Amino acid sequence: MSDPLSLYPAIEAALMCDCIVAKPAQAQALYRQWLAGGYARAGGALYPVPAPGRPARPLLVAATDVPRRGLGSAEGRAALLHAIAHIEFNAINLALDAAWRFRAMPDAFVDDWLRVAAEEAQHFLLLQQRLAALGYAYGDFPAHNTLWDMAVQTGHDVLTRMALVPRVMEARGLDAVPPIQRRLAIVGDHDSAAVLATILQEEVGHVRIGNYWFTTLCDARGLDPLETFRSLLGQYQVALLRGEMNRSARLAAGFTEFELSMLEDFSVTRQRTVTRSKHEQAV
Ligand SMILES: [Fe+2]
Ligand SMILES: [Fe+2]
Repeated sequence: MSDPLSLYPAIEAALMCDCIVAKPAQAQALYRQWLAGGYARAGGALYPVPAPGRPARPLLVAATDVPRRGLGSAEGRAALLHAIAHIEFNAINLALDAAWRFRAMPDAFVDDWLRVAAEEAQHFLLLQQRLAALGYAYGDFPAHNTLWDMAVQTGHDVLTRMALVPRVMEARGLDAVPPIQRRLAIVGDHDSAAVLATILQEEVGHVRIGNYWFTTLCDARGLDPLETFRSLLGQYQVALLRGEMNRSARLAAGFTEFELSMLEDFSVTRQRTVTRSKHEQAV
């Protein structure tokens, strides 16, 4: 058998790849070859990544400038699927970055995040197929430019990354999918709804991975997970919930009933506090 290749330059190449065909293919090949023992954890300098590789299109705009359309037309459905495809494209990068950046973590961490990167690549491919069926492609609509921000903000600490990316951003995805599936079913787009069902199932696994590593890291540092999580939400000014919580998916992903109830209360209290302080500022 030939000598294993150096893992970190291979991950970096996928992370910085700006081609929408090559990046998902590289992410999936990385995971296969890592599992087959084709890589040694070696090589490559570590540095902050202000922006991973991305194609010239979609045009990146402020989140508030991404147009929202009704789902009655193919264009409206394509715009929605495009927004999700953009999240998946960024999710490939977020997962690759976790496997690349946090080098003191054990091999099981690399297993998990390369698996997530490969699954995010599959999600991106599934959504590209749905876009093509509607006569569109990734890049046809503007997209928002904020998804990488959390990677930059949490690049210094793996515990913070696990708290705020899988346990907040990906967990919000669990909440967001069922209402979208219902809206797609109402307009008869059952193929797109079926793709989202596949994605939701695998996203539960991603959040579970985040929960596992977050609690493992809290244990190792002698920290209380709930207190630590709440304090990070406040410190980074992160909203835990946007809309209704998907309790069953979050429970399947390893959150406990107790924790979800506490977090719901905490979110409501924080929202009231933010609203009150905005009101006071206005006055
Ligand atoms: Fe995904
Ligand atoms: Fe994910």
